[in-house]
Amino acid sequence: MTGPEHVDMARAQVFGEVAEVYDAARPGYADALVADVLAYAELGGRTALEVGAGTGKATVPFAELGTPLVCVEPDPRMAALLRRNTARFPGVRVHVGGFEEWHPGGRRFGLLLAAASWHWVDPGRRWDLAHAALAPGGAVALFWNPQGVRDPGVHAALAEVDACHGMSGTPHGEPASSYGDEAGNWAGLPGWPEEECRRDGRFTDVRGVRHRQELRYDTERYLGYLASLSRYRVLSPDRREAVLADTARVLEAHGGGIAMEHFSDLFLARVR
Ligand SMILES: C[S@@+](CC[C@H](N)C(=O)[O-])C[C@H]1O[C@@H](n2cnc3c(N)ncnc32)[C@H](O)[C@@H]1O
Repeated sequence: MTGPEHVDMARAQVFGEVAEVYDAARPGYADALVADVLAYAELGGRTALEVGAGTGKATVPFAELGTPLVCVEPDPRMAALLRRNTARFPGVRVHVGGFEEWHPGGRRFGLLLAAASWHWVDPGRRWDLAHAALAPGGAVALFWNPQGVRDPGVHAALAEVDACHGMSGTPHGEPASSYGDEAGNWAGLPGWPEEECRRDGRFTDVRGVRHRQELRYDTERYLGYLASLSRYRVLSPDRREAVLADTARVLEAHGGGIAMEHFSDLFLARVR
């Protein structure tokens, strides 16, 4: 699978509109994934660079394990929550701006991580930018958290709602049973980086790891989560309200809430 040809800037900039909802509703990342990244990077106290840190869903677990981080986040509203969520970690620095505009200066990092954000960075420049920011042997860790609906009946009913409203690529778009064990293997993926990275040729030791865990949302949190997604943000308020109301009706008709299989798919590579 390859990455998108271009980045939809309108969709890339919608997150801050709902920064608080995003922060409250979106799931985080598996502890095992954070451990995998740190074991692979062997940072030994060096600073990591995080691209598209959002409100800090990935930043916090790394900072809690003592990792110093420079976080690059273009949306000032997301960055404000990031600052709030990481205020207790003096080793976390926040830079407000896109990765394309940010300069490492004389610094070279031992790890670049991007959680659900690499697909928003300019596909024509992102590997150059990563390479320029990393020390020799420095690690790249890119990850996403796709989900699958555990109950086939709920999945089928939600598929009808999505079809009726012309929605695709929603978090409930796949049944949990459709996922295998291989990282990067999911329908809504914005672009598993392996092919692009291998083609670049400056990175080696490429790996993919998938972790899975069960996650149950109550209806309100699930609607908040959907409302924080760019594909729902770009709808007009009326259309968004209509699709969310129909989604809520399905969940309530099936006992309330939704049980998901939550995957954390991790891509690793390092500078040669
Ligand atoms: C889906 S959110 C992920 C946020 C956070 N990493 C997380 O896992 O919750 C994508 C983030 O990428 C940021 N973003 C969009 N374009 C970017 C760019 N060109 N450079 C860096 N970050 C970008 C958005 O502002 C948003 O905070």
